[in-house]
Amino acid sequence: MDLRPIGVYDSGVGGLTGLRALMRLLPGEDYVYFSDSGRMPYGPRPRSQLRRIAVQDMDYLASFGVKAILAACGTISSAAKEELSAYPIPAFGVLTPALDAMAAVPGDGPLAVIATAASIASGEFTDDLWKKCGMKREIVGVPCPELAPLIESGHTKRSDPLVQECVARALEPIRGRRFDAVLLGCTHYGFIEESIRDCLGRDVKLMSAADCGAQALRDYLVQNDLTGGERRDRRFYVSGDTRAFEDFAEPYLKIGPVHAEQAPIMEL
Ligand code: DGL
Repeated sequence: MDLRPIGVYDSGVGGLTGLRALMRLLPGEDYVYFSDSGRMPYGPRPRSQLRRIAVQDMDYLASFGVKAILAACGTISSAAKEELSAYPIPAFGVLTPALDAMAAVPGDGPLAVIATAASIASGEFTDDLWKKCGMKREIVGVPCPELAPLIESGHTKRSDPLVQECVARALEPIRGRRFDAVLLGCTHYGFIEESIRDCLGRDVKLMSAADCGAQALRDYLVQNDLTGGERRDRRFYVSGDTRAFEDFAEPYLKIGPVHAEQAPIMEL
């Protein structure tokens, strides 16, 4: 047993999809969530910057004495794989577990990954998935630069015409095609899952990178006897607008009032 908290981070609210998945899998843990919304979006940034950001964000969480970290961010997970695996505290991304889950999808039809521009440009999602599938399946990567900033600004409702318009524009390259599965490679996309289904077809099989990352971290803690007790302390630190974060997180997490502390904007 290990009573130290679990740290979770993202460029903004997207990582809450990973946090919620973790809280369902491991309800008795303490959590510290860091939203780096003061530096959001991560998606258009070069890899060199993302690597530095990954370490800065983990150092910030480490200052709270966390026992393990989930980088609940596809962009960081693909750009800073090495930084995550070399970090002195066990740190998990969403990339590897998501690719393992995608590679296990039965059939030999095409698979698609939708994610930020940096995630698709890194090739880590698409090339690695192609290799994992024995180079036999068609893998299509779709960069969706508009979507994470749209969601972060509070546009998530299925009935919102702006959401419908942006989703249709982003998914135009794969609209009308059939895939054995489509990976939500950016953790923000969990908030607009229904709109993505409306666009790609109600029967599309969507896989969540956030859920896969949460499961991998849970498995690691269980296997190493590092799970916590019955405490439920959840702390939130936000480098951008704390109020906007609270308004977003509270109805989504449904754990009662969410209070976010102001975090510094770290210099690159
Ligand atoms: N939630 C993020 C991801 O999973 C980052 C989005 C962004 O900041 O561009 O990639």
